[in-house]
Amino acid sequence: MARTVLITGCSSGFGKLAAKSFLAQQWNVIATMRAPERESELISGDNLILARLDVTDPSSIRAAVEAGSDRFGGIDVLVNNAGYGGHALFEEATDASIHAMFETNVFGPMNTMRAVMPGMRKQGGGTIINVSSMAGLIPVPGNSVYTASKHALNGLSEAMALECAPFGIKVRIVEPGAFPTTQFLANVDTRSAGNDAQLKAYETKLRAHFAAQVAQSAAQSGAAADPQDVADKIFECATQETPVHNPVGADAGMLVGMMAAASSRQDFLDQVAPMLTPQDL
Ligand SMILES: NC(=O)c1ccc[n+]([C@@H]2O[C@H](COP(=O)([O-])OP(=O)(O)OC[C@H]3O[C@@H](n4cnc5c(N)ncnc54)[C@H](OP(=O)(O)O)[C@@H]3O)[C@@H](O)[C@H]2O)c1
Repeated sequence: MARTVLITGCSSGFGKLAAKSFLAQQWNVIATMRAPERESELISGDNLILARLDVTDPSSIRAAVEAGSDRFGGIDVLVNNAGYGGHALFEEATDASIHAMFETNVFGPMNTMRAVMPGMRKQGGGTIINVSSMAGLIPVPGNSVYTASKHALNGLSEAMALECAPFGIKVRIVEPGAFPTTQFLANVDTRSAGNDAQLKAYETKLRAHFAAQVAQSAAQSGAAADPQDVADKIFECATQETPVHNPVGADAGMLVGMMAAASSRQDFLDQVAPMLTPQDL
């Protein structure tokens, strides 16, 4: 019998690619997004439900889970993919942008996990795949709130992997490096409350430094980062035995290698500091 996956954030990027990957392998797919009325590629059919789901709106989550369970008999895999990035120096990030980011990137996955777990427990198991980021494993200066949100998601996922194991529920984390998903770049929250000239100059320098590092890493790997690799890793986590952590991308591989080779977390932080931050103002 076909297995069933519910994916959040299917309007673009990794979520849409993942929905297509599962469909191509004859899965039942509950492809969810905030505005399904705008969707033209994913069309509801025998094994696809296109459902409205905003991860900050528990009633929309309940409705999508119920619709999927009623039609397909249960949900085997949840992919928490919805999320967005943020650029601002922490001192100038607005309260509204900090809270909004945690609502989507942290409380959102909590909402969806709690909605599918009772069903997974009843059916004797399932898999929850949380799309985090390398920013869940390393600090990204200039993206500190995003870093905090993805570290929170990683901590939650590691604890839940242990907490849920006795019920046969696996929790996996997919940690992409930098990938050129168009909407991710367009949706980055750049709200900033201040207008301090020193901070503005520093932020510009920080941003240029980071962009140069990403470009250098891409040049070293010799191939453009392909977002399909992330969708493939999500599918692998749903169908094969994988570790809890699943970094994806050449830059992610390089950083994970540095982490493994470092003698301590402090040693890693010392090594990575010049890559992530200009060392002066
Ligand atoms: N691209 C990268 O370099 C990168 C690297 C590391 C991690 N990631 C992570 O990968 C995930 C997917 O990102 P992407 O690159 O594929 O970007 P994307 O194309 O912008 O996709 C993000 C998706 O999340 C949805 N979304 C945002 N807020 C939502 C909410 N409250 N409820 C439901 N859906 C919501 C967006 O829907 P709308 O169309 O409604 O806005 C969109 O479908 C994110 O969690 C991101 O943090 C991306």
